[in-house]
Amino acid sequence: MTIEWLKKTAALAALSYIQPEQLLGIGTGSTVNYFIEALATCRIPIKGVVSSSQASTRQLQALGIPILDSNRVTMLDSYIDGADEVDPHKQLIKGGGAALTGEKIIAAMARHFICIVDHGKQVSRLGQFPVPVEVIPMAREYVTRELIKLGGHPVYRRGVVTDYGHLIVDVHRLMIRDPCTLEQQINGIAGVVTVGLFAHRGADTVLVGTPDGVQIIV
Ligand code: A5P
Repeated sequence: MTIEWLKKTAALAALSYIQPEQLLGIGTGSTVNYFIEALATCRIPIKGVVSSSQASTRQLQALGIPILDSNRVTMLDSYIDGADEVDPHKQLIKGGGAALTGEKIIAAMARHFICIVDHGKQVSRLGQFPVPVEVIPMAREYVTRELIKLGGHPVYRRGVVTDYGHLIVDVHRLMIRDPCTLEQQINGIAGVVTVGLFAHRGADTVLVGTPDGVQIIV
């Protein structure tokens, strides 16, 4: 059983949470791509989706799924997205695909956040995966120095510019004892657009693709 198969089983399991006429938020990444494909073929008549990135928008458009402007929507029924790490409290690290800002906005707008992952993403404590931070270009070096003060080893993700024209700094070896406090601290650094810690607003349901089937964590 491959990792791709496990991602796909988690993505397909998310379909059972979707009802007709719902408004959905759609994340970014290889796992959610399987969900988008399944959504296009299942024919559940949803109202439309708000997309978290240009990459997902392209895939959604190609499959004829109606896309809505986030500014014309007050609330999303469900948000479906992957993650880079998931802890037992359903707190997450996200942003490996550099779409963290759109993802955070959608997570905040959604009533129900369904996170779909393969079992390799489960950790007992967040922080093995470097924490992505989206940064205004002018502030890159300042933010880097502040992240070092927090005990991290920030590495500029060369060649990556986000959908909003910003940069990504990946923070390695952060000791994440209290994800909520750290999320707040990093978001408070001048020049930070957002941090890929989803602790204040973690997932509500995690669907984990495992070799023994899909595990549901609520
Ligand atoms: C995108 O910026 C990320 O938050 C993704 O949700 C995360 O990297 C998971 O991606 P995969 O499903 O490709 O592992």
